[in-house]
Amino acid sequence: MSIIAPSILSADFANLERDTKMVNNSHADWFHIDIMDGVFVPNISFGMPVLKAIQKHAEKPLDVHLMIVDPDRYIDIFSALGAKILTVHFEACNHLHRSVQKIKSCGMKAGVALNPHTPVNNLKNIIQNIDLVCLMSVNPGFGGQSFIENTYKKIKEIRALIKETNSSCLVEIDGGVTNQNASKLITSGADVLVSGNYIFAAEDPKTNIKILKDL
Ligand code: DX5
Ligand code: ZN
Repeated sequence: MSIIAPSILSADFANLERDTKMVNNSHADWFHIDIMDGVFVPNISFGMPVLKAIQKHAEKPLDVHLMIVDPDRYIDIFSALGAKILTVHFEACNHLHRSVQKIKSCGMKAGVALNPHTPVNNLKNIIQNIDLVCLMSVNPGFGGQSFIENTYKKIKEIRALIKETNSSCLVEIDGGVTNQNASKLITSGADVLVSGNYIFAAEDPKTNIKILKDL
């Protein structure tokens, strides 16, 4: 059974309390929170006040995915806002090891995300220091995009690297995850499935969460 992390980016922002409670009462495991700055990605999502509002009602761990340049500036703030897992982008960090150290020193689990075109081999010298690898299966910036098929190959590569280095880090897949591709993602080696549109655009989001959870 994989870890299911509904992406709040696809929630109804006028009903965040309702949607947060829906996730609390579902079979989901984490909240996936996408922070975008309009610089690293061509979109701006939301920032600290919205995260604070979600945190007020959330009863499951907050998995915060930073799509921002120079994330070190905000690591302690996201810790104070209740993030349990903080993921930064490989492509956004000049000193990735330092960023990971800072995340851990704040008491959070450290994740590193890779854009679809970024080879997994780049994580060779950091994989033992991190708790999660987030493989982007769409180009980051928007919910509701279609899944990039090359991701299956990357999952196998990252699994091989994890094995080779004896790392215990989790593999998270983010973007375009639905009931159509989830089984194959799991058999390829995914541990965590992020899903936005498939869950929140559904008539009954809790059922779709359960469908993913039961695979
Ligand atoms: C994309 C975000 C994803 C997104 C996933 O930049 O990181 O978390 O919200 O949403 P879907 O499942 O709709 O692709
Ligand atoms: Zn995300």
